[in-house]
Amino acid sequence: MLTLGIESSCDETSVALIENGRKILANIISTQIPIHQKFGGVVPEIASRKHIVNIMPVLDEALKKADRKLTDIDQVAVAYGPGLVGALLVGVSAAKALAFSLDVPLVAVNHLEGHIFANFLTHENLCPPFIALVVSGGHTALVHMKDYNSFSLIGQTRDDAAGEAFDKVARLLGLPYPGGPQIDKLAKQGNPEAVDFPKALMNKNNYEFSFSGLKSAVINYIHNAEQRSETINKADVAASFQKTVVDILVYKVITAAEKMSIKKIALAGGVAANSLLEQKLSEECRKNGMDFYYPSRILCTDNAAMIACRGYYQALKGDFADMNLNAMPHLALKDAEN
Ligand code: KG4
Ligand code: ZN
Repeated sequence: MLTLGIESSCDETSVALIENGRKILANIISTQIPIHQKFGGVVPEIASRKHIVNIMPVLDEALKKADRKLTDIDQVAVAYGPGLVGALLVGVSAAKALAFSLDVPLVAVNHLEGHIFANFLTHENLCPPFIALVVSGGHTALVHMKDYNSFSLIGQTRDDAAGEAFDKVARLLGLPYPGGPQIDKLAKQGNPEAVDFPKALMNKNNYEFSFSGLKSAVINYIHNAEQRSETINKADVAASFQKTVVDILVYKVITAAEKMSIKKIALAGGVAANSLLEQKLSEECRKNGMDFYYPSRILCTDNAAMIACRGYYQALKGDFADMNLNAMPHLALKDAEN
């Protein structure tokens, strides 16, 4: 079974071919990061136009890398939300055209579910049940994966996503977009105990997150120093901020897993590439006798292989889309039952 995956929700144009759900034959990612960097963030109009330019060459490259022809494709899976509407429409239109012309089924994939499924591509023995911590640029959520097509949302952020907080704080520190990897790097030279930033919603039975207060605390810290004409130590701020986010994420996911007596935890989304998060969560899992999974670095951030993998499991239960499929920029992560 050959699944073609297409991802274009933000600033990566990606096409993948995977065999039998978990074997990656090709996962081509054309990133627009250098283009958006000079604007300090993704410019939606530019992103859509670049996806249009990139989609066909990326598809050709994926077929070449996988050594397959268009006519070998059994089904087409596409991320239809959440994301930037113009960007999503490019992938959705391409997927519909391919599925229609090749006369194969179309599968509509929730991008956030795709992030969780990146774990199945990295760990061939991983199977549900487990708790997934989804931490991306737009979302932060705890999900109970009961089965491949059955899951429930345990909690999510009330305001900013973890990645968004990383990007905003990086911007305040004058670091380029995307800020997460920059903070990760700078934090290695700083003291994580230097500044005591607030941790919101840390009571035991609360699985929701809130990062906007933390972002404001960083703004206040920088402004107060400016008013006193003091120079801040950027590495210390980066390290203290990062530690605060990681402490919150690790605490919430471990408490949820303990409470639900689940022994497996999987990380997902762009922030899963954060080195401190990976290190701290793996330590805590070891202490608590839990198995810890996270996708390989390239599968943490946006890519089409994870979309193809999610699409494969949806197809197994006959969850197909029709030619009326549209982009859903505000698509949420919702409970699903088999
Ligand atoms: O999942 P993703 O590629 O796109 C969305 O679906 O949002 O996530 C991108 C986010 C950005 O906010 C980026 O700053 C963050 O992931 N990110 C990181 C790291 N690498 C990427 N955040 C912290 N540490 C990193 N190493
Ligand atoms: Zn993403």
